[in-house]
Amino acid sequence: SGDSGNKKEDTLVMATNAEFPPYEYYEGKDVVGIDADIAAAVADELGMKLKIEDMAFDSIIAAVSSGKADIGAAGMTVTKERLKNVDFTDTYATATQVIIVTEDSEIAGPDDLTGKKIGVQLGTTGDIYADDIEDASVERYNKGFEAVQALQQGKIDAVIIDGEPAKEFVKEADGLKILDEAFTEEEYAIAVKKGNDELKDKINDALASLKDSGKLDEIVGKYISS
Ligand code: ARG
Repeated sequence: SGDSGNKKEDTLVMATNAEFPPYEYYEGKDVVGIDADIAAAVADELGMKLKIEDMAFDSIIAAVSSGKADIGAAGMTVTKERLKNVDFTDTYATATQVIIVTEDSEIAGPDDLTGKKIGVQLGTTGDIYADDIEDASVERYNKGFEAVQALQQGKIDAVIIDGEPAKEFVKEADGLKILDEAFTEEEYAIAVKKGNDELKDKINDALASLKDSGKLDEIVGKYISS
């Protein structure tokens, strides 16, 4: 029929890395989580269908800037560096980077990380923080949970990762704790291709109405119990 040519425009392609509960993770064969639900609600507001493409976290920016994906939604922190390659929508969540250690660890806060072996997910802001710590050696993993497992196995001294996934991972791994003292706050937003103001504005409008209607809080509440 005549509408097959419009198929592509009717689909909003979201690049993500589904290794980041509660924002994106697998439930069976489906990618679920806060970002998946927000993107579905945004697509709905735009009258589009959502298609989720799972990939390595450090491939998402390239997927968006090359047009392979329309949006990047991955608990992605807005940073100056990333803003050179993509634009970001308004923010939809705040987060902190936290430190995970073993229960018997002597590490009590960021200052104790000097000279330590620190695990991170490759290409994340945790990676950038760890890189700045004096004399520390940084072990980079493809998945955040792999860093947590390495910590459990005594291969590294600490993991730096976003607070909400940290809670999820520590729940599933015995003998670990999250330190109270965290790094600075970050803002999550959706990445769009640089200069694609049309899509960015539409998403911002959609996000605003999801905030106003309480739908955004509802989505967050479904995955994070306060
Ligand atoms: N907030 C961090 C960052 O932007 C980590 C995000 C990791 N997200 C993921 N889906 N694996 O660098």
